[in-house]
Amino acid sequence: MNRIMAATALALACSAAPAMAGDAALGEEKAVTCIACHGEGGAKPISPQYPILAGQYADYLEQALLQYKSGSRKNMIMAGIVASLTEEDFKNLAAYFAAQDSPLATVD
Ligand code: HEC
Repeated sequence: MNRIMAATALALACSAAPAMAGDAALGEEKAVTCIACHGEGGAKPISPQYPILAGQYADYLEQALLQYKSGSRKNMIMAGIVASLTEEDFKNLAAYFAAQDSPLATVD
């Protein structure tokens, strides 16, 4: 009986868990193309027109990628980049770039 209750509790806990976060290691594999513009780890863009990705919130990065894909955020370059990527890739890329050391800072 206790076992059944424990299993039920576990099942409930799992179903209540938030959506799975991305896998940064898988994101790193996909990030090879991104660093051509956004720089190593997304931290050192090759020119100021390319935003810093390192250290930005993962959900912000994921949202931006979803918007380039849907067309609600328009940019010719990024629209081309996301065309061959999946929503799973977006989560993984976002997790990877969010975890990188960043030159970005917030004012205390
Ligand atoms: C050829 C250059 C280039 C490559 C390669 C590239 N990007 Fe971008 N990226 C840009 C430019 C330019 C912008 C700014 C677009 C805009 O103003 O919306 C941008 C913007 C972004 C943003 C929005 C950042 C913000 O602060 O709002 C994200 C996220 C992003 N890129 C992720 C990626 C990822 C992930 C990859 C690799 C899969 C990648 N980019 C590859 C040029 C590039």
